[in-house]
Amino acid sequence: MTASMRARRLGERVTAPFGRRLCEVTRNLTSGGYRIFSVSDPVGPEPAAGQFYMLAADAGWGGNEGRPYLARAFSVADGESYADGIRLDFLVQAVGPGTSRLAALEAGEELWIHGPLGRPFAPPHELVEGAAGAVLVGGGIGVAPLAIWRRQLLAAGIPARVLLGFRDRANSGGVELFDCSEIRLASEDGHTGHRGYVTDLLGVLLEGDDAPSAAVYACGPPAMLEAVRLMCAERGVACELAMEAPMACGFGACFGCAVPRAGGGYMRLCVDGPVVRGEEIETALVPGSGH
Ligand SMILES: Cc1cc2nc3c(=O)[nH]c(=O)nc-3n(C[C@H](O)[C@H](O)[C@H](O)COP(=O)(O)OP(=O)(O)OC[C@H]3O[C@@H](n4cnc5c(N)ncnc54)[C@H](O)[C@@H]3O)c2cc1C
Ligand code: FES
Repeated sequence: MTASMRARRLGERVTAPFGRRLCEVTRNLTSGGYRIFSVSDPVGPEPAAGQFYMLAADAGWGGNEGRPYLARAFSVADGESYADGIRLDFLVQAVGPGTSRLAALEAGEELWIHGPLGRPFAPPHELVEGAAGAVLVGGGIGVAPLAIWRRQLLAAGIPARVLLGFRDRANSGGVELFDCSEIRLASEDGHTGHRGYVTDLLGVLLEGDDAPSAAVYACGPPAMLEAVRLMCAERGVACELAMEAPMACGFGACFGCAVPRAGGGYMRLCVDGPVVRGEEIETALVPGSGH
């Protein structure tokens, strides 16, 4: 029995098959200022929420054409089995040569993928005894891993509240990946939802009596993650953060993604993360990450 065939525990880390594999792009849609593209992965396995893949287009990547050269890291926004394999969804914001090439992929083109990689989100009951549910806090392109996490939590019968924040219209998207109306939105320019930060919404939610029994899961820009980490620490609320650092290999070999651990030493975010508990790190303000 293969790993993808057996029923997996929620939050169980999934191991990638050896090497990279070529997958067909099946769609590429506009989503606000971002793009959602999907690939058909005939091999699998189905990823766990919070894991990521290293992606590189087959054409228009490296070689004599120069940058981008190395594969780029992307959180999986969804990944579900269907008759021909696994459909993987990714949310991308074009910020440089790699992301611009991925944003321009057309259906029928091919993409090299390596993954799923890294440590996924842990279920609320592993973070808090007698957990009442999950609170998902996303900022900008960081909403991606929370979409698959919400779907997996709901499938396991675990309630999840979703708070998403965006800077402005151009730096927003991916809301439809959540496939639900119970999302609270915030935007800094006021184009949607509460005018201000998504952490304003979290602050209100954490005033509730049941807050200490919630597990908070966050992904977004470093300043947002650091604010969430501090808010949760001050209130004794458990949290996990899906972080980013510049990643050259994605599997522990280059040490490019090292971040300081609380209490000394370093962790490699590609193997010890990208999901980390709030108390494991000194700060979420990682140099070279976030856009
Ligand atoms: C675990 C993980 C998951 C990620 N998930 C997503 C995702 O779901 N969607 C998405 O669009 N992006 C995601 N990223 C960020 C993405 O990998 C980078 O934006 C990408 O590598 C940039 O490549 P580029 O060639 O387009 O630009 P580059 O020329 O490499 O960089 C362009 C700009 O982006 C900044 N940048 C470079 N690397 C990162 C990084 N890791 N994080 C933030 N900013 C960076 C640079 O400082 C520069 O300003 C993720 C990164 C990691 C580590
Ligand atoms: S990206 Fe190479 S060790 Fe983490």
